[in-house]
Amino acid sequence: MDSQLYILIIEDTEDDYQLLLREFKRRGVAIIPKRIETAEAMQEALATQKWDIVISDFTLPRFNAPDALKILQASGLDIPFIIVSGTIGEESAVASLKAGAHDFLIKGNFARLIPAIEREIREAESRYIRRQAEEALQEKEHLLSETQRIGHVGSWKLILEKETFQFSDEMYRLLDVTQESFNHQVNDLMELIYSIDKPAMQSWIESVKTSSQTHELVVRLFHKNSELRHIRFTGGAIFDGQGKVVRIAGNAQDVTESKVAEIQIQQQLKRLASLRIIDQAITSGFNLQLILNTVITQAISQLQVDAAAILLIDNTQQILEHFISQGFHTRAIERVSLPLDKTSYAARATIERRLIHIPDLKEQTPTKNITGEGFVCYFSVPLIAQGRVNGVLEVYHRAPIQPYPEWINFLEALAGQAAIAIDNVTLFEDLQRSNFELKVAYDATIEGWSHALDLRDRETEGHTRRVANMAIKLARKMDFSEEQLIQMDRGALLHDIGKLGVPDHILLKEGDLTEAEWNIMRQHPKLAYDWLAPIAYLQKALDIPYYHHEKWDGTGYPQGLKGEEIPIAARVFAIVDVWDALTNTRPYRAGWDKEKTIAYIREQSGKHFDPKVVDVFLKNLDEILKN
Ligand code: C2E
Ligand code: SIN
Ligand code: SIN
Ligand code: FE
Ligand code: FE
Repeated sequence: MDSQLYILIIEDTEDDYQLLLREFKRRGVAIIPKRIETAEAMQEALATQKWDIVISDFTLPRFNAPDALKILQASGLDIPFIIVSGTIGEESAVASLKAGAHDFLIKGNFARLIPAIEREIREAESRYIRRQAEEALQEKEHLLSETQRIGHVGSWKLILEKETFQFSDEMYRLLDVTQESFNHQVNDLMELIYSIDKPAMQSWIESVKTSSQTHELVVRLFHKNSELRHIRFTGGAIFDGQGKVVRIAGNAQDVTESKVAEIQIQQQLKRLASLRIIDQAITSGFNLQLILNTVITQAISQLQVDAAAILLIDNTQQILEHFISQGFHTRAIERVSLPLDKTSYAARATIERRLIHIPDLKEQTPTKNITGEGFVCYFSVPLIAQGRVNGVLEVYHRAPIQPYPEWINFLEALAGQAAIAIDNVTLFEDLQRSNFELKVAYDATIEGWSHALDLRDRETEGHTRRVANMAIKLARKMDFSEEQLIQMDRGALLHDIGKLGVPDHILLKEGDLTEAEWNIMRQHPKLAYDWLAPIAYLQKALDIPYYHHEKWDGTGYPQGLKGEEIPIAARVFAIVDVWDALTNTRPYRAGWDKEKTIAYIREQSGKHFDPKVVDVFLKNLDEILKN
């Protein structure tokens, strides 16, 4: 004992007290004593000072050792308590020891006093240390169990010899079973796992058993309230001295929240990809059937619904009609034709321009036309683009749906895509229709003009038409495309339209033209160009009216172009134009015969005409001249 001992002495007799003090002094033990005689004084002493030992007389006038022991025990302090008495019988002594006194000494015989005190203090110290260790352990266990509870982390081990699990408290909560009802066999755990995940769980256990690494697995299981939870198991093998796996152990954590968030993010990504697929379908073509089919395929897969349909508004009949559908058992949906009034959900969605959600179709008036499908849940979204409603996107499911905001957003995004697709295609079709109408109108106009020209030129009926046909026949031999042939036809019909600007007295003159008259006559290709160029529809048909009097050797008009500078359509046309002019009677000369004309054309090859075209023309002359 290195330092001074604090000793609480319960003693009424001053002499006995001094005797005790002398004994300590004699043994060289430094002490700080305090004498008390009552219960109150003891309580106060315990409360105000830390004591190394309590020494008590057995009987005092107002106090006694058993009561003092009780006070000490009630205080929770672990201080050695030694009784010193001269009057106590054996029985009381034994009773006192049983009650918790640490030793019993007879007054006057203090030989054992100091050793007893030393021993008791040592024991008290080791008790203290042990208690501290126990408390620390308890504290640790408490902390562990608390953190496990708070973090939803459970721990488990599987004793391989017995194939039996041991679980922490939190582990039972994670699995939603009670310690009493759970059998702790591997099979009992497997029972709890969601059937789809059972094989993975089985092979995970095998992996943990047979490797020295830690393995992780997320499996799903249902709690008793039928909530699906995602539990992440982490486990590793524990080896014995011989390197044999004796058990596997690890923890488990409920990761439902983060897993659900992750799934939602993945879903969002998939949905974005889906919208891109539809975008591509929209930009890649104008087949509405194909695009809207993509829309409902994506609706079914991404929204995880059983069926989807698109109904389109037929404006002339004022009805909503089936256009495309998937996922229906019967074909009733294909006959759906709903008046645009409030008698159907679908029509209501278009009229009210809002999403209609029927969570339980059975509670509503039965869905018209659609029976025997077992649908429970119904959504209808209007297809609105540029402020116009084109139809509705309907989705049907054979089980209830709890639509969270992202789900609804995606449904509306799909409807938006469908609406844009419909709008695009309708616009395109309108454009095509008006183009077609325009084409018919223009071509009729062109034919009309060419008739008027023929009449004015005093040529035989159908002359211009005939020249145009010959030009096309020759052009075919030269591998013109169909588009070029169409333009050639229009150009040929209009080739001399410029002559409308040539006065009658020049145009119909019987005889050679004067220089001044020629100057006016040579204006006709330029006039044609000036009149026709502003008409977009005729842009590609201008080569013949403008260049049909150019010559291969560069001596023609209006530009004096040479060789292949002259557009091919004009080079082709020039030959048939001259052929037709020469073989027909003109006001200024009689028509030539075939042989003379052939000779002329051949003679002009390389002068007026492109030699290659002349070759083709003459080689195919009979065919070209045939009606
Ligand atoms: P067009 O009558 O349709 O003649 C078209 C082209 O065929 C002429 O272009 C010319 O290259 C050729 N061609 C027509 N007739 C003859 C001919 O008798 N001999 C020869 N060698 N080639 C002939 P061109 O010469 O530029 O004439 C353009 C237009 O001018 C003719 O169209 C016609 O309307 C008018 N024209 C040409 N010569 C006369 C003429 O002597 N008297 C009158 N009144 N008009 C003429
Ligand atoms: C209804 O008819 O009530 C709406 C469902 C459908 O469009 O067929
Ligand atoms: C062609 O070379 O076939 C025709 C080209 C053109 O019309 O200018
Ligand atoms: Fe001409
Ligand atoms: Fe002509």
